Amino acid sequence: MNFSSYILGCGSYLPKKIIKNNELPKKLKTSDEWIKTRTGIRQRHIADKKQFNSDLGFEAAQKAIKNSQISISNIDLIIVATSTPDHTFPSTATKIQGKLGIKKGFAFDIQAACSGFIYALSVADNYIVNNQAKNALVIGSEVFSRILDWNDRSTCVLFGDGAGAIVLGKNKKKNSGIISTELYSDGRHYDLLYVNGGVATNQKAGYVKMKGKEVFKHAVQKLVSCIEISLKKNNLKKNDIDWIVPHQANKRIMDMTAVKLGVSKDKVLATVDKYANTSSASIPLTLDYAVKKKIIKRGDIVVFEAIGGGLTWGCSIMKY
Ligand code: UT7
Repeated sequence: MNFSSYILGCGSYLPKKIIKNNELPKKLKTSDEWIKTRTGIRQRHIADKKQFNSDLGFEAAQKAIKNSQISISNIDLIIVATSTPDHTFPSTATKIQGKLGIKKGFAFDIQAACSGFIYALSVADNYIVNNQAKNALVIGSEVFSRILDWNDRSTCVLFGDGAGAIVLGKNKKKNSGIISTELYSDGRHYDLLYVNGGVATNQKAGYVKMKGKEVFKHAVQKLVSCIEISLKKNNLKKNDIDWIVPHQANKRIMDMTAVKLGVSKDKVLATVDKYANTSSASIPLTLDYAVKKKIIKRGDIVVFEAIGGGLTWGCSIMKY
C-alpha cells in the first residue's frame, strides 16, 4: 500500500442546546415517529445565537491538536469545510487561525456542501504529499440552523450544528495513512439540493431547499460506485473494510449503501440519531465519537463517504 498522510488525532465540539424530535410538533406538522423511522434522527444540537461557525470550529480544532500531541506551532495549513461561514470573506479558516494564535502557513475555506470534509481532506493530503505543508488542521464546521426555514418540515427536522477536526501529518514510518481519496461532482443536479440565497443573487443567506427522494436515489448509487472504484484501484476487497464512517444524512441511506456494497451494517458508524445531519461536520464528528469510544483503533481500514449539494460526492480509504 502507498500511504501518504495520516491522522495524528481528532476532536469535536457540539453546542450545548439540544432539541429533541418531540419538541418539534409544537410548531410543525411532524412527529417523532416520522423523523425517527424515515431518518434515524432523534435529536440535534443547535448553536447559541452568539456562537459563530468559527467558535465551533475553534473548539473542535483545539481538541484535535491536543489529541494529536503536537505543538500548535507545527500546524502550517488550515482548511475549513463549510457552507455556513461567519462572513462572505475573509475565510472562517483565517479566523480560526487567528484565534489559535498561529502566525505561519496558510488557511482557506472549501465549499462542497455535505461532501466538504472529504474534499478538504483530499486537498490537505495533496499538500502534504507534495511537501507544501507538514501538518494540516482539517475542520468541518457548520451552523446549518441559520439557513433552515423552521416552517419547512421537509428540511428543518433533518439538520443540526456542530464541528469536527483532525490533524493530518506525514507518516514517516509509512505504516498507515490515507490510501486514496476520490472526488466527483455533477452540476446538472444543482437544483436537487441548494440554498435559495447568495451574495450575487439576492444578497441573503437563504434557506435550504431539497428534493429529498431524488437525492436519496443518487446517494446510494453514487456512493456504492465510488467506494467500489476506490477499492479496486487499491487492490482492496470489501471484506478488508473494518469501518465505514458515512456522512450522516439518513440512517436508511447509510445502511442501504453498505448492503449494496456487500458490507455488514454493523460496520457502519452512526451518530445521526444524536447529532442529525451536520453537513461537512458529520464525518469528523462521527470519527471522533468512534475513536473516543475505542471503536476505531489504529490499523483499522476505515472508509469515509459523503454526498451533498452540487451534486458533489466522494470517498476516502485509510489505514487509521
Ligand atoms: O446531506 C446531504 C444529502 N442529503 C440527503 O442525502 C437526504 C436524502 N433524502 C432523504 O434522506 C429523504 O428523502 C428524506 C428524509 C428527506 C425524506 O424521506 P422520504 O421517505 O423520501 O419522504 P418523502 O420526501 O417522500 O415524503 C413522504 C411524505 C410526504 O407526504 P405525502 O406526500 O406522502 O402525503 C411528505 O410531505 O412525508 C411527508 N413529510 C413529512 N411528514 C412528517 C416530509 N417531511 C415530513 C416531516 N414530518 N418532517
